[in-house]
Amino acid sequence: MTAVTGAPPVIVAERISASVPSSSGDPLVLFKDVSFSIHAGQSAAILGRSGSGKTTLLTQLGAMNRPETGSLVLKGHELLRMGDARAARLRNKHIGFVFQSYSLIPHLNVLENVMVPAGYSTGLRRRAVRLRAKDLLEAVGLSGMESARPARLSGGEQQRVAIARSLVLNPSIVLADEPTGALDEQTGESVLRLLLEATQREGSCLVVVTHDEQVAARMDRVFRLGDGQLTEVAA
Ligand SMILES: Nc1ncnc2c1ncn2[C@@H]1O[C@H](COP(=O)(O)OP(=O)(O)OP(=O)(O)O)[C@@H](O)[C@H]1O
Ligand SMILES: [Mg+2]
Repeated sequence: MTAVTGAPPVIVAERISASVPSSSGDPLVLFKDVSFSIHAGQSAAILGRSGSGKTTLLTQLGAMNRPETGSLVLKGHELLRMGDARAARLRNKHIGFVFQSYSLIPHLNVLENVMVPAGYSTGLRRRAVRLRAKDLLEAVGLSGMESARPARLSGGEQQRVAIARSLVLNPSIVLADEPTGALDEQTGESVLRLLLEATQREGSCLVVVTHDEQVAARMDRVFRLGDGQLTEVAA
């Protein structure tokens, strides 16, 4: 869905950078002084070669890592002026993250994994989250597998549990790292539709990291990360 003109920005990155330690001793710069913003209602894809820093960028947008420079405003809050506890609250309240490695909790079953973002909530809220979790599992084609442990699932099934988990609290910033990497075309399509639905909630946006040009073409905007820069390419 294309953003309505004047829709507020949900993510505003100004001159953000990241580097990682390297064997030479000098830090390896992944990206430097990258600026962009994503508005409510928008979906965006980030393409780029393996190792270019896509996951690193996504974890910054997810308030899991802090940019080394610049400013990153998420839902109106400056991440770089926030302590760890506030960043954690922001993550929990507003951000849904699909990890490239799924990161399911092995001793919890499928339904419990999807409910993890709700923490130890009780009573009515817990019941509502449970219903939402079941609906999402149905939407990703996993009804009937609620009580299975992750180890019993195929890679694509684990990926779909991770996607359901990312959406369970209706986050306004949905960040998905290769969300269709393990899925066949048809399953990938239904998952993509579910992720795109998230952009239709007021004040929400979706950012997807992908190697798949067809997935990228489904997004409103397409960016490419390479040579330390993020460049918007025609969608
Ligand atoms: N914590 C870390 N310590 C050292 N190096 C790291 C760390 N995190 C990432 N890197 C390195 O930074 C580079 C970028 O990693 P990143 O995971 O962001 O790439 P990517 O674009 O997501 O790649 P892929 O498409 O393979 O998932 C890689 O070379 C990786 O080895
Ligand atoms: Mg990655």
